[in-house]
Amino acid sequence: MNPEFDRLVEPELNVRSDSLLEQSLRPQTFGEFIGQNGLKENLAVYIEAAKRRDEALDHCLFAGPPGLGKTTLAYLVARTIGSELFTISGPALDKKGDLAAVLTNLKPNDVLFIDEIHRVPITVEEVLYSAMEDFKLDIILGQGPGARTMRIDLPRFTLIGATTRAGLLSTPLRDRFGIHFVLEFYQPEEIQQILVHSATRLAVELLPDGATELAKRSRGTPRIANRLLRRVRDFADVHGRGVIDQALARKALASLGVDECGLDSMDKKILLTIIEKFDGGPVGIDTLASAIGEESQTLEDVYEPFLLQQGFLHRTPRGRVAARLSYEHFGIAPEKENQAQLEF
Ligand SMILES: Nc1ncnc2c1ncn2[C@@H]1O[C@H](COP(=O)(O)OP(=O)(O)OP(=O)(O)O)[C@@H](O)[C@H]1O
Ligand SMILES: [Mg+2]
Repeated sequence: MNPEFDRLVEPELNVRSDSLLEQSLRPQTFGEFIGQNGLKENLAVYIEAAKRRDEALDHCLFAGPPGLGKTTLAYLVARTIGSELFTISGPALDKKGDLAAVLTNLKPNDVLFIDEIHRVPITVEEVLYSAMEDFKLDIILGQGPGARTMRIDLPRFTLIGATTRAGLLSTPLRDRFGIHFVLEFYQPEEIQQILVHSATRLAVELLPDGATELAKRSRGTPRIANRLLRRVRDFADVHGRGVIDQALARKALASLGVDECGLDSMDKKILLTIIEKFDGGPVGIDTLASAIGEESQTLEDVYEPFLLQQGFLHRTPRGRVAARLSYEHFGIAPEKENQAQLEF
């Protein structure tokens, strides 16, 4: 889901403004894919082993928050194997026939990438079971009592599934993936390296202290890092003779409303509302949502994940609580009576 406005620190793809940038900055080799080292090493072994045995790579599941490189990895896998990549999006597969059409077009060792695989409708998902396990496709011909089933052999292919919500995947589907990877948020040093590469491609001069400053505010997410870089480049072109150093990065990001921890005005509004209007919490999600003028669902899906993951916010059975880190961040002393709640 994309919020209606262009939120600079939104981890999900903004189809309108991010697509071109991402295509031009997407790593073309595993060498250019920074970080996720354990994952990369294992994947390289699996790919090499499959190649040596001249077999299709096992089906792979890439799980993790938006913007961390799942789609990029799918491209890299297909490229390294030397096969074609077919991409479809889970929710777009609304009929069994759509999937059948894609599957019957595959050649041996091809890679089929299903993005947002947790959103494949269950009837279509059932077609995937035998396709993944036995490389067979059951097609029902006709209707009613006269209907017959026809089995079609499929070539040995690799399915790569990507999901931001691994928990929503059904067990039978999850179990059919031989390889499971969870992508982690990136360390600031890794984001810094990604920024340096991107700056070269965008032909902007990014000094090391400027890269450090941008990296700190990118929420461990390459997509956000690249987006911030592109915006800050505008400031560099207008105010900084095309060079991004620490001072320029700070100034530009302040103007863009992204603070030194990567929080934007909405994040701050959420945390300050809990602290100031609800004495630090706990406050129920619906009450909080109406206090800040947002839908509860948007609050949960869009704003909360980062705040929870970074420890600015805690989720308790009685509602949301502003964590000690939030008080520190805003330089507000927690009230005594709330201390106990904060320490739970
Ligand atoms: N490890 C990395 N090294 C360099 N750049 C990266 C890396 N991971 C991601 N990127 C950059 O971030 C962009 C977003 O990555 P990608 O589209 O692969 O994320 P995703 O996990 O598929 O996100 P979503 O869940 O929204 O589909 C890429 O276009 C690429 O430019
Ligand atoms: Mg993707």
